[in-house]
Amino acid sequence: MKPIQVGLLGIGTVGSGTFNVLTRNQEEIRRRAGRGIEITMVADLNVERAREIVGDQARVVADAREIIANPEIDIVIELIGGYGIARALVLEAINAGKHVVTANKALLAVHGTEIFAAASARGVMVAFEAAVAGGIPIIKALREGLTANQVQWVAGIINGTTNFILSEMRDKGLDFDVVLKEAQRLGYAEADPTFDIEGVDAAHKATLMSALAFGIPVQFDKAHVEGITKLSAVDIRYAEQLGYRIKLLGIAKRRDDVGGIELRVHPTLVPAKRLIANVEGAMNAVMVQGDAVGTTLYYGKGAGSEPTASAVIADLVDITRLHTADPDHRVPHLAFQAGELRDTPV
Ligand code: HSE
Repeated sequence: MKPIQVGLLGIGTVGSGTFNVLTRNQEEIRRRAGRGIEITMVADLNVERAREIVGDQARVVADAREIIANPEIDIVIELIGGYGIARALVLEAINAGKHVVTANKALLAVHGTEIFAAASARGVMVAFEAAVAGGIPIIKALREGLTANQVQWVAGIINGTTNFILSEMRDKGLDFDVVLKEAQRLGYAEADPTFDIEGVDAAHKATLMSALAFGIPVQFDKAHVEGITKLSAVDIRYAEQLGYRIKLLGIAKRRDDVGGIELRVHPTLVPAKRLIANVEGAMNAVMVQGDAVGTTLYYGKGAGSEPTASAVIADLVDITRLHTADPDHRVPHLAFQAGELRDTPV
């Protein structure tokens, strides 16, 4: 069966990671998806740089609409970011009958209702594992693994940049601005890092998790948002002396007393002995409390090229499994595949 064809909009940090992982692990990915997955077109304003990354493996264009107009393309990956052109292109891709994979939490947190309604009307998927907590499969956990539960709360460190800043300020006594620059250099920070440091990025992600956990519409405008810009090295030191760590937490909580969901992001004093207090650097961790399962904890890299690519590709595989045209080639979702067994070296 012919590989599923993917068009990539934006080949920056995550886009190049996606291209590299998809190329490097193409055999495993093909087996697991039941069909090959190939990025055959890439759109980026910097055509030269894009060509350097993809070589002759994909056609590079400057105009994303060439990808959307191409009937051969089955899935569009949107990695442009922001609410502007990305919103228009995602809606156009949906209306053209393409499935969409996006890491764009800002877009979905603000325009998710419109986008999901358009996708549902057109019968296509909008998948966004990469939008929350990078490589941690938290969307899958909320949507699938914990689906039997009434979720009571979700809380986590869901912005790598701010966690990196807080960790480095505490451990190395470095200044806020110095560490922020380093986070940008390492590819953790948003194009506009105020979204990271003011808590907006974490609130976007908490909004998406709350929608999945509680079955509510995406309502970013209802979130209480507070970042880390008012914190100083002294606050961090005093917290330490009192046995606490300061963490920027995103929290979504069922409030039966007021009959609603509380959604907030703010610096929080976490007892130093708690697991989540020891999540350092750009790592993320999300805790989910369900009525049946109790408390669960998910930990991993929340930002960066290949961790986020790992989530993008998971969505590509999911869509390929579920929507591949030939039913004989559909791979049952959680099937064990004997073909993946390897001999264990003795
Ligand atoms: N700027 C984000 C972060 C990138 O620091 O977590 C991943 O969403």
